[in-house]
Amino acid sequence: MKPVFLARMRACTACRLCEQRTQVVVGTGDESARLIILGEAPGRTEDEGGEPFRGRSGRLLFELLAEIGVTREDCFITNVVKCRPPKNRTPTKSEIESCRPWWEQQLSYFRASIVLTLGNTATQTVVGHREPMSGSHGNPVAIHGHVIVPTYHPAAALRGGNSVVAVMREDLDVVARLMKERA
Ligand code: URA
Repeated sequence: MKPVFLARMRACTACRLCEQRTQVVVGTGDESARLIILGEAPGRTEDEGGEPFRGRSGRLLFELLAEIGVTREDCFITNVVKCRPPKNRTPTKSEIESCRPWWEQQLSYFRASIVLTLGNTATQTVVGHREPMSGSHGNPVAIHGHVIVPTYHPAAALRGGNSVVAVMREDLDVVARLMKERA
């Protein structure tokens, strides 16, 4: 990311989440990767450490991604909302919309053509529909030159157990196939 863009994002005060954040979690990884991963919003660990998906759900996510040969270094990972909502609540519509320009610009600057969206907030924000995850997961959608693959948020898999993990594995197989086709 260009230093000017990064500095603007880090200083963002477009919504009130700026009042309680430790820092803006801009995202990490390879900006020239084929795969970008979009979650919902940073939690406490991410707010304190400055990197997305460093807590329990991140560990599960990267265990599953390792099965298709993807490491943290092979993708760029970020969230549709860059600042932690208090008590990890779901971001509001207005917070989500305030943050939209940041991830939209990241998508347009980076080389990634495959976007894995994690959970309803990220998926509905990017794809623009209200379909529940049970209907949309694993079905690629073409938007603005990117292929979006929705799957469950790993926090849902931590709550929902092996059946959700099994579905995520199938969805990640779709990602692996698309990455091969687009290599
Ligand atoms: N959950 C998210 O959606 N994003 C993070 O960065 C961490 C947990």
